[in-house]
Amino acid sequence: MKILIQASILAADFSRLDREIKRVESAGVDMLHVDIMDGHFVPNITVGPAIVSDIRKITKLPLDVHLMIDNPFELADRFIASGADKLSFHIETVRERTFRQKAASLKSTGIEIGLVLNPPTPVGKITSLLDSVDFVLVMTVNPGFGGQEFIPQVLPKIRKLRSIFRGDIAVDGGITAANAKSVIEAGGNILAAGTYIFKAKDTKDAIRRLRCR
Ligand code: DX5
Ligand code: ZN
Repeated sequence: MKILIQASILAADFSRLDREIKRVESAGVDMLHVDIMDGHFVPNITVGPAIVSDIRKITKLPLDVHLMIDNPFELADRFIASGADKLSFHIETVRERTFRQKAASLKSTGIEIGLVLNPPTPVGKITSLLDSVDFVLVMTVNPGFGGQEFIPQVLPKIRKLRSIFRGDIAVDGGITAANAKSVIEAGGNILAAGTYIFKAKDTKDAIRRLRCR
Protein backbone atom coordinates (compact mmCIF):
# COMPACT_ATOMS: atom_id res chain seq x y z
CA MET A 1 0.00 0.00 0.00
CA LYS A 2 1.11 3.57 -0.58
CA ILE A 3 2.50 5.22 2.56
CA LEU A 4 0.78 8.51 3.35
CA ILE A 5 2.00 11.07 5.88
CA GLN A 6 -0.24 13.29 7.98
CA ALA A 7 1.19 16.30 9.82
CA SER A 8 -0.54 16.65 13.20
CA ILE A 9 -0.90 20.41 13.66
CA LEU A 10 -1.04 20.07 17.45
CA ALA A 11 2.74 20.51 17.33
CA ALA A 12 2.57 23.63 15.13
CA ASP A 13 3.04 27.17 16.39
CA PHE A 14 -0.59 28.36 16.47
CA SER A 15 0.46 32.01 16.52
CA ARG A 16 1.56 31.51 12.91
CA LEU A 17 -0.58 28.59 11.84
CA ASP A 18 -0.90 29.85 8.29
CA ARG A 19 2.87 29.77 7.74
CA GLU A 20 3.25 26.48 9.61
CA ILE A 21 0.68 24.74 7.41
CA LYS A 22 2.21 26.12 4.22
CA ARG A 23 5.62 24.96 5.41
CA VAL A 24 4.57 21.31 5.82
CA GLU A 25 2.46 21.44 2.68
CA SER A 26 5.39 22.53 0.55
CA ALA A 27 7.60 19.94 2.27
CA GLY A 28 5.31 17.26 0.87
CA VAL A 29 2.87 15.98 3.53
CA ASP A 30 -0.18 14.21 2.14
CA MET A 31 -2.76 15.34 4.70
CA LEU A 32 -3.23 17.39 7.84
CA HIS A 33 -4.29 15.74 11.08
CA VAL A 34 -6.38 18.01 13.33
CA ASP A 35 -6.75 16.95 16.97
CA ILE A 36 -10.04 17.94 18.62
CA MET A 37 -9.98 17.63 22.43
CA ASP A 38 -12.77 18.52 24.84
CA GLY A 39 -11.21 18.34 28.32
CA HIS A 40 -13.52 15.39 29.16
CA PHE A 41 -12.59 12.41 27.03
CA VAL A 42 -8.99 13.59 27.26
CA PRO A 43 -7.42 15.95 29.81
CA ASN A 44 -6.71 18.76 27.33
CA ILE A 45 -8.60 21.22 25.12
CA THR A 46 -7.71 22.22 21.57
CA VAL A 47 -9.89 23.69 18.83
CA GLY A 48 -13.43 23.46 17.46
CA PRO A 49 -15.22 23.74 14.09
CA ALA A 50 -14.49 27.48 13.66
CA ILE A 51 -10.75 26.87 13.54
CA VAL A 52 -11.19 23.89 11.22
CA SER A 53 -13.06 26.26 8.86
CA ASP A 54 -10.16 28.69 8.95
CA ILE A 55 -7.66 25.89 8.28
CA ARG A 56 -9.80 24.82 5.33
CA LYS A 57 -9.29 28.29 3.82
CA ILE A 58 -5.50 28.05 4.12
CA THR A 59 -4.89 24.67 2.45
CA LYS A 60 -6.22 22.21 -0.10
CA LEU A 61 -4.69 19.24 1.75
CA PRO A 62 -7.23 16.68 3.01
CA LEU A 63 -8.12 17.27 6.67
CA ASP A 64 -8.37 14.26 8.98
CA VAL A 65 -10.27 15.46 12.04
CA HIS A 66 -9.50 13.26 15.05
CA LEU A 67 -12.36 13.62 17.53
CA MET A 68 -11.17 13.07 21.10
CA ILE A 69 -14.48 14.22 22.54
CA ASP A 70 -17.43 12.72 24.39
CA ASN A 71 -20.68 12.46 22.35
CA PRO A 72 -18.87 12.97 19.02
CA PHE A 73 -22.02 12.61 16.92
CA GLU A 74 -23.38 15.84 18.43
CA LEU A 75 -20.68 17.79 16.57
CA ALA A 76 -19.90 15.59 13.55
CA ASP A 77 -22.09 17.62 11.16
CA ARG A 78 -20.41 20.87 12.21
CA PHE A 79 -16.97 19.46 11.50
CA ILE A 80 -18.14 18.23 8.08
CA ALA A 81 -19.56 21.69 7.32
CA SER A 82 -16.21 23.16 8.38
CA GLY A 83 -14.41 21.18 5.68
CA ALA A 84 -13.28 17.89 7.26
CA ASP A 85 -12.50 15.17 4.68
CA LYS A 86 -12.16 12.39 7.21
CA LEU A 87 -13.64 12.03 10.69
CA SER A 88 -12.11 9.70 13.27
CA PHE A 89 -14.29 8.47 16.14
CA HIS A 90 -12.92 6.77 19.25
CA ILE A 91 -14.65 3.43 19.83
CA GLU A 92 -14.47 4.28 23.55
CA THR A 93 -16.96 7.17 22.92
CA VAL A 94 -19.64 5.51 20.76
CA ARG A 95 -22.21 2.72 20.92
CA GLU A 96 -22.01 0.03 18.25
CA ARG A 97 -25.57 0.41 16.97
CA THR A 98 -25.47 4.21 16.86
CA PHE A 99 -22.10 4.14 15.13
CA ARG A 100 -23.33 1.81 12.40
CA GLN A 101 -26.33 4.05 11.63
CA LYS A 102 -24.55 7.40 11.87
CA ALA A 103 -21.47 6.24 9.95
CA ALA A 104 -23.64 5.28 6.99
CA SER A 105 -25.43 8.62 6.90
CA LEU A 106 -22.23 10.67 7.39
CA LYS A 107 -20.48 8.74 4.61
CA SER A 108 -23.30 9.64 2.25
CA THR A 109 -22.01 13.25 2.45
CA GLY A 110 -18.82 12.03 0.76
CA ILE A 111 -16.44 12.01 3.71
CA GLU A 112 -14.44 9.06 5.05
CA ILE A 113 -15.21 7.63 8.46
CA GLY A 114 -12.80 5.86 10.76
CA LEU A 115 -12.68 4.30 14.21
CA VAL A 116 -9.88 4.95 16.69
CA LEU A 117 -8.44 2.56 19.26
CA ASN A 118 -6.67 3.76 22.40
CA PRO A 119 -3.52 1.78 23.30
CA PRO A 120 -5.29 -0.53 25.80
CA THR A 121 -8.39 -1.11 23.59
CA PRO A 122 -8.27 -4.47 21.75
CA VAL A 123 -9.08 -4.99 18.07
CA GLY A 124 -11.99 -7.18 19.19
CA LYS A 125 -13.92 -4.01 20.18
CA ILE A 126 -14.26 -2.97 16.53
CA THR A 127 -14.26 -6.21 14.51
CA SER A 128 -18.03 -6.17 14.04
CA LEU A 129 -17.82 -2.57 12.73
CA LEU A 130 -14.95 -2.94 10.28
CA ASP A 131 -17.35 -3.28 7.36
CA SER A 132 -18.74 0.19 8.06
CA VAL A 133 -15.45 2.16 8.16
CA ASP A 134 -12.98 3.44 5.55
CA PHE A 135 -10.04 3.36 7.93
CA VAL A 136 -8.91 2.58 11.46
CA LEU A 137 -6.65 4.87 13.48
CA VAL A 138 -4.50 3.06 16.04
CA MET A 139 -3.14 5.20 18.89
CA THR A 140 0.45 4.55 19.92
CA VAL A 141 0.25 7.02 22.85
CA ASN A 142 -2.55 7.69 25.31
CA PRO A 143 -4.36 10.61 23.68
CA GLY A 144 -4.33 14.13 25.09
CA PHE A 145 -0.90 15.53 24.35
CA GLY A 146 1.68 15.74 21.61
CA GLY A 147 5.31 14.89 22.16
CA GLN A 148 4.81 11.63 24.05
CA GLU A 149 6.85 8.43 23.68
CA PHE A 150 5.68 5.85 21.14
CA ILE A 151 4.34 2.69 22.86
CA PRO A 152 5.88 -0.28 20.95
CA GLN A 153 3.58 -2.79 22.71
CA VAL A 154 0.82 -1.61 20.32
CA LEU A 155 2.62 -3.06 17.24
CA PRO A 156 1.14 -6.60 17.53
CA LYS A 157 -2.33 -5.03 17.55
CA ILE A 158 -1.61 -3.28 14.24
CA ARG A 159 -0.43 -6.62 12.82
CA LYS A 160 -3.58 -8.36 14.04
CA LEU A 161 -5.79 -5.65 12.57
CA ARG A 162 -3.97 -5.84 9.21
CA SER A 163 -4.62 -9.59 9.05
CA ILE A 164 -8.39 -8.96 9.06
CA PHE A 165 -8.75 -5.45 7.53
CA ARG A 166 -7.81 -4.30 4.03
CA GLY A 167 -8.63 -0.59 4.42
CA ASP A 168 -6.30 2.17 5.55
CA ILE A 169 -4.62 1.75 8.93
CA ALA A 170 -3.45 5.07 10.36
CA VAL A 171 -1.09 5.17 13.33
CA ASP A 172 -0.86 8.19 15.63
CA GLY A 173 1.36 9.12 18.56
CA GLY A 174 5.12 9.41 19.02
CA ILE A 175 5.84 8.55 15.37
CA THR A 176 9.44 9.28 14.29
CA ALA A 177 11.87 7.94 11.70
CA ALA A 178 13.09 5.54 14.41
CA ASN A 179 9.78 3.65 14.61
CA ALA A 180 8.17 4.32 11.20
CA LYS A 181 9.64 1.14 9.70
CA SER A 182 8.20 -1.06 12.46
CA VAL A 183 4.79 0.62 12.05
CA ILE A 184 4.79 0.07 8.28
CA GLU A 185 6.00 -3.54 8.64
CA ALA A 186 3.16 -4.19 11.08
CA GLY A 187 0.66 -3.00 8.46
CA GLY A 188 0.17 0.72 9.05
CA ASN A 189 0.00 2.77 5.84
CA ILE A 190 -0.88 6.25 7.13
CA LEU A 191 1.52 7.80 9.65
CA ALA A 192 0.38 10.81 11.69
CA ALA A 193 3.26 12.75 13.22
CA GLY A 194 3.26 16.08 15.04
CA THR A 195 6.44 16.82 16.95
CA TYR A 196 8.70 14.89 14.59
CA ILE A 197 7.56 16.90 11.56
CA PHE A 198 7.03 20.38 13.01
CA LYS A 199 10.17 20.42 15.15
CA ALA A 200 12.44 18.93 12.49
CA LYS A 201 15.29 21.10 11.23
CA ASP A 202 14.70 19.82 7.70
CA THR A 203 10.96 19.26 7.27
CA LYS A 204 11.23 17.74 3.81
CA ASP A 205 13.84 15.23 4.92
CA ALA A 206 11.79 14.30 8.01
CA ILE A 207 8.78 13.51 5.84
CA ARG A 208 10.90 11.50 3.41
CA ARG A 209 12.32 9.49 6.31
CA LEU A 210 8.85 8.70 7.63
CA ARG A 211 8.01 7.16 4.27
CA CYS A 212 11.06 4.91 4.80
CA ARG A 213 12.43 5.69 1.39
C1 DX5 B 1 -2.40 12.76 20.68
C2 DX5 B 1 -2.82 13.23 19.30
C3 DX5 B 1 -1.75 13.04 18.27
C4 DX5 B 1 -0.56 13.92 18.50
C5 DX5 B 1 0.63 13.40 17.77
O1 DX5 B 1 -3.47 12.91 21.54
O2 DX5 B 1 -3.96 12.52 18.87
O3 DX5 B 1 -2.26 13.28 16.97
O4 DX5 B 1 -0.80 15.24 18.07
O5 DX5 B 1 1.72 14.19 18.11
P1 DX5 B 1 3.18 13.58 18.32
O6 DX5 B 1 3.60 13.11 16.96
O7 DX5 B 1 3.94 14.72 18.83
O8 DX5 B 1 3.05 12.42 19.29
ZN1 ZN C 1 -4.44 12.64 16.73
